[in-house]
Amino acid sequence: MLDQNSFNSLLLTYKQRVDLALEQWLPPETLNPVKLHQAMRYSVLGSGKRVRPVLVYATAHTLNIPLDKVDGIAAAIEIIHAYSLIHDDLPSMDDDDLRRGRPTCHRQFDEATAILAGDALQALAFYILAHDPQMTVDASKRLSMIEKLALFSGSRGMAGGQALDLDSVGKKINIAQLETMHIHKTGALIRTCIQMAALSSDSTTDIQFEALDRYAKKIGLSFQVQDDILDVISDTHTLGKPQGSDAELDKPTFPSIIGLQAARDKAQELHRQAQASLDCFGAEADILRTISHWFVERSH
Ligand code: IPE
Ligand code: IPE
Ligand code: MG
Ligand code: MG
Ligand code: MG
Repeated sequence: MLDQNSFNSLLLTYKQRVDLALEQWLPPETLNPVKLHQAMRYSVLGSGKRVRPVLVYATAHTLNIPLDKVDGIAAAIEIIHAYSLIHDDLPSMDDDDLRRGRPTCHRQFDEATAILAGDALQALAFYILAHDPQMTVDASKRLSMIEKLALFSGSRGMAGGQALDLDSVGKKINIAQLETMHIHKTGALIRTCIQMAALSSDSTTDIQFEALDRYAKKIGLSFQVQDDILDVISDTHTLGKPQGSDAELDKPTFPSIIGLQAARDKAQELHRQAQASLDCFGAEADILRTISHWFVERSH
């Protein structure tokens, strides 16, 4: 694992790197329709942990892939994530007013603009994957990345998980059903980050790919378990989004179903399993090891 200072400076480097790519791919605010482009930029740029781009870069580092080959992937996945947050916050979904310390997109603009900003961001992500000239992979690899992002962000992935989430409101579900929901709504995109990054090299072996995918599944779930925990124990200012939103909406979460301590134990267990999945790698995977630790120790 990396020490805290090295890890923090690496996170900053990765964040700056993807922010530059995002800035370049997003249409300018002056372009018509101005309000839509403003809303897209408002929701993507600025704060946000950039967890998914960080995973893309860390996977590239582990596999010795030059980072400029994965800038497009990092930007595309963050853009899909931003779209998912805009829609997640809508009145018809979680009905939240605060995101990343600012009014949510539908609050800052209006509901129709927020829906359209989400739609347009989703399309932009696929445009980037199809067009990015820095990605020097052959056409079949590019297609395979597009396929993965489509699959994991659609009804068999993130959007499907969001449907399960909405369907579970006010209901008693068991822990297996909760895991299924979390694996889809959050785990799927996290898996995609790592798979797409791994696909950008011709020399990734099946063993490496499978090990990374096992890791991705563990941290994808631990990330959402910790998100559920933070909704209970953190505060709105630290989170930049309303604390207690899950309880208010009567959402089943890890703490609400198994209790806070068991949820913490679950996150730690997933972290241990994630570490074990990386056993076939040496020090080149230390960033990924440290990310898994960050996911379960983070305070926002
Ligand atoms: C929040 O994601 C939504 C979940 C999938 C839990 P993040 O915690 O990555 O949100 P930002 O991007 O840092 O705002
Ligand atoms: C959202 O889960 C997962 C997404 C696909 C956006 P949450 O609803 O728990 O995310 P937050 O807590 O609002 O960020
Ligand atoms: Mg939600
Ligand atoms: Mg939400
Ligand atoms: Mg949450």
